[in-house]
Amino acid sequence: MIILGIETSCDETAICLIEAKDNSVKILGNQLYSQVALHAQYGGVFPMMAKREHGKNLTPLLEKCLEEANVLKQNKKTNVSKEKNTKLKQILIREEGLFEPLIELAKKIEKPKIDAIAVTNGPGLEPALWVGVSFAKALSALWDIPVIPTNHMEGHIMVAPLKKTSDKEYEMTDIQFPAIALLISGGHTQLVLIKDNLNYEIVGNTKDDAIGEAFDKVARILGLPYPGGPQISKLAEKERIEFPNKIPPFPLPRPMIHSHDLNFSFSGIKTAVLYTVQKIDKLTDTMKQEIAREFEDAVVEVIVKKTKEAVEQYGAQTIIMGGGVSANKKIRNDFTKLAEDLNIKFLVPEISASTDNAFMIALAGYINIKAGKKPETEFKAKGNLSL
Ligand code: KG4
Ligand code: ZN
Repeated sequence: MIILGIETSCDETAICLIEAKDNSVKILGNQLYSQVALHAQYGGVFPMMAKREHGKNLTPLLEKCLEEANVLKQNKKTNVSKEKNTKLKQILIREEGLFEPLIELAKKIEKPKIDAIAVTNGPGLEPALWVGVSFAKALSALWDIPVIPTNHMEGHIMVAPLKKTSDKEYEMTDIQFPAIALLISGGHTQLVLIKDNLNYEIVGNTKDDAIGEAFDKVARILGLPYPGGPQISKLAEKERIEFPNKIPPFPLPRPMIHSHDLNFSFSGIKTAVLYTVQKIDKLTDTMKQEIAREFEDAVVEVIVKKTKEAVEQYGAQTIIMGGGVSANKKIRNDFTKLAEDLNIKFLVPEISASTDNAFMIALAGYINIKAGKKPETEFKAKGNLSL
């Protein structure tokens, strides 16, 4: 089965074409345009700007993806009927700049062999999500391909059990259930109990900021560019290498570490960093490094402890980790160790698939189709879509 994945929930525009059969998945084409540099100058993601950029980038990315997959066949005589033209215009009415390039592409290529389209319909920034959703619906109308609305967080989960078998080929490894998934991204910090395939129960959640948001905000306080996660991580690692035994000069709290539930809070630690920095006359690079390390140590300690508690509470056999923050090196190391100590499996995506991408969306679409999920036509983008 050949599936086209489309992802536009935040500031990455991504398109991926996969071919999947049983437990094997092959990437045929994978294109991603990150808007990070654009948003960086404003210190965060601007939803309306993200929307405009997605609109501009989707069609060229689709063309590149089909080209990469070797399924793009130029044909000067491809005809787009008047009815289809009108229908597409209607579907794309609110998506500025999407209709014209898509019609241009449609007129010059043959319908590619795609069995289904999987598109992220939430959670995420609603204006950004709508671009992908409308684009998927337009392609569906143009080429008569069914669409499966796909949950972004489920994508983050499903990409974790993949094992690379060659350059572009993967095998889905078995998950031993029950599993506990820790989802850590710019918008989420959740512990999810997975009793069986596609059976999710959120058992822990953040009461305020997401962990990635805390990384980004602390980075901003320290004067580091957006997105802050990788920046903080780099400084923290440098500090650990240079001064392995230094007592932290700016100690920070471990929020909710003794709360005896599985919830999180990351807003207080960000404020603690702000107060710390406000008291400092001149923030030196050394101080930035020290604060970055202490911040990373504090939040990682909390997520490790809470995940351990969740595993013990539910007798989990597997820890799954997903979301952009799972690209973090210390988090990967500490969770590898936690799983070893608990003698259970730890599944985490390769780094390139940790942050937002369309491969995970195509994959989640495939797994859902295999499980009997039916295509939809009238669905909406939902910013707060839950698992
Ligand atoms: O999953 P993702 O790409 O987008 C959302 O769905 O939110 O996650 C983005 C988040 C950002 O907050 C970014 O700072 C964080 O992931 N991030 C990291 C690292 N790489 C990305 N946080 C900590 N360490 C990293 N190495
Ligand atoms: Zn994400």
